[in-house]
Amino acid sequence: MVQAVIWKGDKVLLLDQRLLPERVEYVECVDFREVAAGIRDMVVRGAPAIGIAGGYGVALSVADVERGLAPSGATGLADYVTTAARHVASARPTAVNLQWAVDRVLAATLKASENEGVGSASWAAQREAAAIEEEDVKVNRAIGAHGAQLVKPGSRILTHCNAGALATGGYGTALGVVRKAWEEGKVSMVYADETRPYLQGARLTAWELLQDGMDVTVIVDSAAGYLISQGKVDFIVVGADRVARNGDVANKIGTYTLACLAQRHHVPFYVASPISTFDLTLETGDRIPVEERDEKEVLTLLGKVVAPVGARAFNPAFDITPASLICGIITEKGVIHEPMAENIQKIVLGDGMRA
Ligand code: MRU
Repeated sequence: MVQAVIWKGDKVLLLDQRLLPERVEYVECVDFREVAAGIRDMVVRGAPAIGIAGGYGVALSVADVERGLAPSGATGLADYVTTAARHVASARPTAVNLQWAVDRVLAATLKASENEGVGSASWAAQREAAAIEEEDVKVNRAIGAHGAQLVKPGSRILTHCNAGALATGGYGTALGVVRKAWEEGKVSMVYADETRPYLQGARLTAWELLQDGMDVTVIVDSAAGYLISQGKVDFIVVGADRVARNGDVANKIGTYTLACLAQRHHVPFYVASPISTFDLTLETGDRIPVEERDEKEVLTLLGKVVAPVGARAFNPAFDITPASLICGIITEKGVIHEPMAENIQKIVLGDGMRA
């Protein structure tokens, strides 16, 4: 299966998702600044994948100290790596996985440096980043298994953006559910929303699923309402970039629209999200920072200008779907249903995760 992020010991390779499906090429990042730029510029994207890349970015900053490119000694290392971690974590604001993974690798680095000496920090950072990557694949398989149980035989599934192997350590969250249900012979068609402006659905989801031999139909985002109203969608599953304490979900722009349509037409609407995407420090979705990207992404399409000179564009990368529109959140620990806030506390805190 395709790998979005590959650790090479002294550099990170990021699959350049801007070039898919035309070309499969990797961008080489030799330091944390290049990793941060790769995240910001969408070479790598998807909440868990940017977390994994970010973790390795921090590991590269520790290697800088070893290579004599940064101040040495415990204090020098701590200052340098903490600054690098902040730089990487700020590359994109919405997906909490980035901050979460960067914090994890930073904490492991500082702990090793303090307890076992500066020399052990680099190995500790690499080990922690690799652990995040490995855990993510297991988590996705568990999400897939829980989610597939919700899918009825013969289902036509609609998904938005790309929450697949390309967006994670492998297998995918929303596409993990699709994959498992497909393996069980329960999927008759997958509809992929095109997902303007970056076309993650058309370029990435369709590519990924076709590689697995699934039947995929791409629709423009605005066709979803018609398709659903015609009774042609049985199940909707999307990913998440951040889930607030009350179950409100930030995900790719257009997710909220789908959730409204699903409610109107009584189609089950589910979010697939690892526990690492929950942010219990935020009471509701209103507090989630929503990234606004460059106008150019809307005013152009595949490098070609599509709007008259002088036209402005509004380009939020994400929207917030209130918990009340979500049938359930599929996690590695099971499916969270109403009462959302209460059940999130039980599942997430029960796991001893971020409070
Ligand atoms: O802007 P992107 O492509 O990073 O947005 C990705 C999404 O919105 C995904 O649905 C989300 O990160 C979940 S990926 C498992």
